[in-house]
Amino acid sequence: MATSACQGLLLMALVAAVLSTASGTLQYDFYSYSCPRAEEAVRNATVKIISEDRTMGAALVRLFFHDCFVKGCDASILLDESNSNPQPEKLAIPLRGYDAVNTIKAAVEAVCVRNVSCADILAYAARDSAMVTGGFTFAMPGGRRDGLGSDLSDIPANIPSPSMQVQDLTKSFGAKGLSTLDLVALSGAHSLGQTHCSFVTPRLYPTPRLYPTVDPTLNATYAGKLRSFCPQNSGGGKVLNNNNVTDPNVLSNQYYRNLGTGEVLFTSDQTLTSDAGTAKMVLDNAASPVMWMAKFAGAMVKMGGIQVLTGTQGEVRKVCGATNSGS
Ligand code: HEM
Ligand SMILES: *[C@@H]1O[C@H](CO)[C@@H](O)[C@H](O)[C@H]1NC(C)=O
Ligand SMILES: *[C@@H]1O[C@H](CO)[C@@H](O)[C@H](O)[C@H]1NC(C)=O
Ligand SMILES: *[C@@H]1O[C@H](CO)[C@@H](O)[C@H](O)[C@H]1NC(C)=O
Ligand SMILES: *[C@@H]1O[C@H](CO)[C@@H](O)[C@H](O)[C@H]1NC(C)=O
Repeated sequence: MATSACQGLLLMALVAAVLSTASGTLQYDFYSYSCPRAEEAVRNATVKIISEDRTMGAALVRLFFHDCFVKGCDASILLDESNSNPQPEKLAIPLRGYDAVNTIKAAVEAVCVRNVSCADILAYAARDSAMVTGGFTFAMPGGRRDGLGSDLSDIPANIPSPSMQVQDLTKSFGAKGLSTLDLVALSGAHSLGQTHCSFVTPRLYPTPRLYPTVDPTLNATYAGKLRSFCPQNSGGGKVLNNNNVTDPNVLSNQYYRNLGTGEVLFTSDQTLTSDAGTAKMVLDNAASPVMWMAKFAGAMVKMGGIQVLTGTQGEVRKVCGATNSGS
């Protein structure tokens, strides 16, 4: 990564963050007194995890999104099944990266005991995953506290579906205080990671009434490759890559070029070119990697401020998979 470019990006991200009010009472360098090496410990552990398994960056970025969109960024996505949380969020959607979060938490506990929340650890780890996979970094405020509950029935109303059109995506993000610009900027995370065939097959195989034709917005050559990778009636459990066009382990604005050639996986991706306003943002992001990085950074900070618990609300968990009452 080019150092001078990164310094410039850091500044722009800060400006974007200061302009956003969504981060509420969170603070930059929140742990400078109570755990000065907290962010360094998260960064070291995250870098190591991704160096051992390059797909983990995507997993950590997505976990942060899912945490923040359901009950705010309170680490509710991390809670395991227990008496007080018999049906936690994590049972609703198979996400990756829980072991990685536990490893990072253990590294932080090794430098200071019980002072750094799992919600902050996830926010820092997502920021550092962007650094490792995308080559740019930005300041992420801290001070989130960990929530006490987690309920899978909160998922459907809060997590947008891959079959959504741009109007509904805008509503979903708007309900969290995020703008259409944020929606388009954050969707660039789909330059990274993995998907199951089941989310893609509706676009590949006509089904009477619902999808009478193959999705005409899908690139025909790409559709052919996807059909051979994801055969009809094969169960949909096979795993394929987002952005197979370049590298699914690199966070970049390649996603916006893939939108231009119809080589993205979900309806919720391709729909961003169907509206004049979002189509313009897609072209801007495709044309300028640096401007996209600044928007992505600003939007990650804004997302990290959704409905946070602060001060004496909630708690700081000992382990990320359970509340301190052990239940
Ligand atoms: C705009 C609405 C969004 C929809 C409908 C959506 C939907 C999806 C779906 C269906 C998958 C594949 C899941 C699977 O097969 O297991 C996925 C993967 C992923 N999403 Fe999104 N997503 C959205 C926004 C976001 C945002 C805002 C981020 C982060 C900033 C994000 C980051 C990711 C990443 C990194 C992956 C790959 C995960 C992995 O490799 O395990 N997505 N998304
Ligand atoms: C992070 O890694 C650097 C370089 O290896 C090391 O000097 C530093 O002590 C580590 N910090 C923590 C908190 O583990
Ligand atoms: C944890 O935070 C408290 C309050 O700020 C502080 O007194 C304590 O020294 C911190 N513990 C560690 C291990 O840094
Ligand atoms: C993705 O790329 C790899 C290697 O280039 C290839 O083997 C695989 O079939 C591709 N998958 C899809 C779905 O295009
Ligand atoms: C489909 O993808 C190929 C390979 O990237 C590209 O050359 C072609 O222009 C795309 N077709 C359309 C209609 O965009």
